[in-house]
Amino acid sequence: MRYDAVLFDFDGTIADTERGISAALRTACEQLGMEPIPPQQIPLFIGPPVLDAAQRYLGMDAQQAAVFHTHFRAAYRAYSLYEATVYPGIPLLLRQLRAQGVYVAVASAKPVDMVQSLLNHFGLARLFDRVVGKTTSDADTHKETLLRQALPARYERAAMVGDRLYDMEAAKAVGLDAIGAAWGFGSAQELLASGADALAATPQEAASILCGESAPIPRGFFISIEGLDGCGKSTQISELARHLRARGYDVLCTREPGGTPISEDIRALILDPEKSMCNETEALLYAASRCEHVRRVIRPALEKGQVVLCDRYVDSSLVYQGAGRELGMDKVAQINAPAVDGTMPDLTLLFVVNPQAAFLRRSSATKLDRLERAGEAFFLRVRDAYDLLADTEPQRIRRIDASRNIAEVTAEACGYLDKLLDGR
Ligand code: TYD
Repeated sequence: MRYDAVLFDFDGTIADTERGISAALRTACEQLGMEPIPPQQIPLFIGPPVLDAAQRYLGMDAQQAAVFHTHFRAAYRAYSLYEATVYPGIPLLLRQLRAQGVYVAVASAKPVDMVQSLLNHFGLARLFDRVVGKTTSDADTHKETLLRQALPARYERAAMVGDRLYDMEAAKAVGLDAIGAAWGFGSAQELLASGADALAATPQEAASILCGESAPIPRGFFISIEGLDGCGKSTQISELARHLRARGYDVLCTREPGGTPISEDIRALILDPEKSMCNETEALLYAASRCEHVRRVIRPALEKGQVVLCDRYVDSSLVYQGAGRELGMDKVAQINAPAVDGTMPDLTLLFVVNPQAAFLRRSSATKLDRLERAGEAFFLRVRDAYDLLADTEPQRIRRIDASRNIAEVTAEACGYLDKLLDGR
């Protein structure tokens, strides 16, 4: 093991908080009748306590800086704390460290309740053993003090990951290895000049430095999206992908039938309204397309730690071919067993709409494919079969009422995703 404890700075290391901080700085300047801070200077205010930065970079005395700080803090808390995104690869890095039994903590000069709220918001709270920040308005926020508080009682070798000179200098003063997070606000030059032992351009590079090149990558998450044609899956999938990317996840969106060149050819064949085929052939073609997709796309992505958002999966075959085409769900499950080969979603979001409403949505949109031309009785059987599946596997399959407006549906779906990724 290279390290048994790793401490992280928050702003500029875990999350890009520039948007929220710069909005609050702008408000503080307006309220005090000052010129706004030029955009290129904003990064100087991310990392050090605002009280110090206001004196150092705005030429204020201690009293003026305290007033400025009060305005800044009020605006930040009230309006822009969550205007932030987690850097791509951070959740995977944290999960990788934890999988190796490494103690992981945050040491930030931000008020500790803010850091905790942000970690909760981004679903990262459970990945940290300790969160250290400013506890009272007159607390000592020197980075060295924070690092000492964040370290475990016993450790052999510890590292600090941070993006500014304060982080590197404090790490060295406390006897830790200093890893420069070059993806943040400090330049490589700043980090090296202040004592960085190593620089990482991305969280993935930091993982190699901290865990070694050959450390196992934790498996990603497999999420399938189901529902009747016209239930609004496509819109929701792009919203969900955006939500996950803002939380630092590497997301792969894919679909069935499809997702690989051969599977897309099979898709074209099955959905072609000019073709006709036996129900069994249809079921076998869906399974063949899935077989290719699982092995060439889904599993490799999961092995890289990615989050796979799959528009339809084996449940679609169970309900469309098993119930819709009346082949029987057991028979379709058997046909699919060698294709799926044990790779099942960790979570399935089932978007529920009434079949008539879905039909209207579909038919107003585009030309109908071969499956969409099946009659109303077909879609009623599909609807009932989805219900049956969701009743049988309530832990995996979550029903979401998709007749509401897009934002409400997205919010509920994101709640289920967060629960899964956060390990709750
Ligand atoms: P989908 O990609 O959801 O259609 P669209 O992009 O046009 O909204 O699915 C294509 C059709 O294939 C849909 O009617 C459902 C059907 N289907 C099955 O019948 N069985 C399956 O296993 C899968 C994956 C899809």
